[in-house]
Amino acid sequence: MRNQWLMLAACFWVLFMLMVASKFIPLTFRDKDSYSIKSRPMTWSAVAQARKLPVAEANVETLKVDQQPTGKVLEDTAHKPQIQIDRMELLRNVCRNASLSNLTHTTVSKFVLDRIFVSDKHKILFCQTPKVGNTQWKKVLIFLNGHFPSINKIPEHLVHDNEKNGIPRLSSFSKPEIQERLNSYFKFLIVRDPFERLISAFKDKFIINPRFEPWYKHDIAPAIIRKYRKNHTETRGLQFEDFVRYLGDPHRRQLDLQFGEHIIHWVSYVELCAPCEINYSVVGHHETLEADALYILKEAGIDHLVSYPTIPPGITLYNRTKVQSYFSSISKRDIRRLYARFKGDFKLFGYQEPDFLLN
Ligand SMILES: *[C@@H]1O[C@H](CO)[C@@H](O)[C@H](O)[C@H]1NC(C)=O
Ligand SMILES: *[C@@H]1O[C@H](CO)[C@@H](O)[C@H](O)[C@H]1NC(C)=O
Ligand SMILES: *[C@@H]1O[C@H](CO)[C@@H](O)[C@H](O)[C@H]1NC(C)=O
Ligand SMILES: *[C@@H]1O[C@H](CO)[C@@H](O)[C@H](O)[C@H]1NC(C)=O
Ligand SMILES: *[C@@H]1O[C@H](CO)[C@@H](O)[C@H](O)[C@H]1NC(C)=O
Repeated sequence: MRNQWLMLAACFWVLFMLMVASKFIPLTFRDKDSYSIKSRPMTWSAVAQARKLPVAEANVETLKVDQQPTGKVLEDTAHKPQIQIDRMELLRNVCRNASLSNLTHTTVSKFVLDRIFVSDKHKILFCQTPKVGNTQWKKVLIFLNGHFPSINKIPEHLVHDNEKNGIPRLSSFSKPEIQERLNSYFKFLIVRDPFERLISAFKDKFIINPRFEPWYKHDIAPAIIRKYRKNHTETRGLQFEDFVRYLGDPHRRQLDLQFGEHIIHWVSYVELCAPCEINYSVVGHHETLEADALYILKEAGIDHLVSYPTIPPGITLYNRTKVQSYFSSISKRDIRRLYARFKGDFKLFGYQEPDFLLN
């Protein structure tokens, strides 16, 4: 009898500890291109707790994806532009390349499932990768749910309110439901040149640093500076050089855990969307967004319902001058380390190795 009570007490204790621990695993942060005023600033005490968690616990739930081709096996490829066919073939080939497997493979963890938004009505999965026009795609999905007469009528604050915007994350479904959606839905993501993306994230979060996202300047930047600043006479805020050294560090994982979901702005596309584990239907490129958006809408079977908002000409093009100027003061060693960490993204999506920076 006494033993049974002890067992029961032990069970409650474990349950209690799990509940406490789950509070500190940074899975509850709202995810968005830019966090709205309503989102909770990361508190540093929670962050300090998160640091103590063993690395493996950060991605508690992982999902084994075994995708069998279902339904329409014999696909009609005649109407597909060659560039899209080539892209998918390159992706599949690089995924199979064993010498790159460390940089191209990941587990389909809760972190990945949190990135993927679902439209059940139109059987679409969209993996969100910040800084490539994601807000617009979320608006497209919200509009398709039918509660707004047009995309322009969707209030800005609703777009990133993931509780109210009616586009659930894939992580909110059960395992069989997730599997079924991964197998049969249209799946897409948008990528851009990996280095230009990092510049964009740096500028946005640490230079412009919107007032409603104070944690980039007040929590994340000081933590990076403490660990990675070389020049101790430098007293300015986070410099691109510090950021590059942090990103190029193969052992930066502990710091990433502290930063929680905010790392979505700079971790690799591999880590965000698991492109070698999930059989995406289309990968759009920011550089050719105008054509790619049309193609995605068509392939998803929604081109008669919605159109992608007009893209001002030129703004999505790769700007080598900009990349060159950001990296001009960074040491070759640090640039090579950075490239080594992001090589998977370069290879998978066909972005040219930036040899003008590396050599
Ligand atoms: C991936 O999806 C395509 C159709 O989009 C299908 O032809 C192919 O067999 C799938 N591959 C796997 C491994 O499921
Ligand atoms: C695999 O990737 C490496 C490194 O990029 C490359 O040198 C090699 O040619 C690739 N192998 C195949 C079979 O594509
Ligand atoms: C992949 O990573 C493991 C452990 O991190 C390491 O031991 C191995 O050498 C790496 N393989 C390649 C091909 O880089
Ligand atoms: C260190 O930073 C200071 C202040 O910005 C600068 O004047 C100096 O040139 C830097 N030293 C090196 C070695 O980069
Ligand atoms: C490219 O970037 C440079 C430096 O930031 C800027 O001066 C130039 O206007 C940009 N070019 C285009 C076409 O946007």
